[in-house]
Amino acid sequence: MLIRIISDIHSNYQALEAVLNDPLGKDAEKTFCLGDIVGYGADPSSCIEMVRQECDIVVSGNHDAGAAGRVSLDRYNWEGATALRWTRSILSQDDKNWLSLLPYFADYENFFLCHSYPADPESWTYVLRRNHALESINARQGYISLIGHTHLPGCWMEDGNYTDASKGDFSKVRLVNAGSVGQPRDRDPRAAYLLIDTEAGTWEHRRVKYSIDDAAARIKEEALPPILWERLYSGF
Ligand SMILES: [Fe+2]
Repeated sequence: MLIRIISDIHSNYQALEAVLNDPLGKDAEKTFCLGDIVGYGADPSSCIEMVRQECDIVVSGNHDAGAAGRVSLDRYNWEGATALRWTRSILSQDDKNWLSLLPYFADYENFFLCHSYPADPESWTYVLRRNHALESINARQGYISLIGHTHLPGCWMEDGNYTDASKGDFSKVRLVNAGSVGQPRDRDPRAAYLLIDTEAGTWEHRRVKYSIDDAAARIKEEALPPILWERLYSGF
């Protein structure tokens, strides 16, 4: 079975549309979203609508929780909090209710899904170092964990070693970061998502070009902090 994993869309509708139209993932039987549908970008409502329509499982990210009022805005940097305040002001009550009811983690077959840190999903810890990767792997024995949050696509092996290879098999992989659809930070500005083939036991980090100009124009139009569109061009 082919499964698409999307994460960290961050209200970038142009990037989300491009990812969902990627021919290689078009035949996926399932699509899972690892959170941060909103925040930073200018099209939260259309991103929520598309995710509600396309995704079979959705877990909450910290920005979704912030927009829903589950997490204090003091926990975000200035531009993040500014975008979340604006997001709250324009989302419908129905969308805010939907965001507020998203689970913080879920599982599907041998996959464990959460936004940030499988060992403690609500702590919003960034898995960047080996110790956090190993703690995550140990906390979810028997599972392959799928995460986002850092906006950096990559995989950790059973022994805590890391690879940023673009494809591989699951024999030793225990933790995979899907990267970010709408705000990549690995210096590649193309939208990122993860494709899993459960029968072949393989994964692939896909990159898709989209109109950054259009996404940036929307952020400018809504007068959100300039850093939020500037960084789309550098992918950092
Ligand atoms: Fe994020």
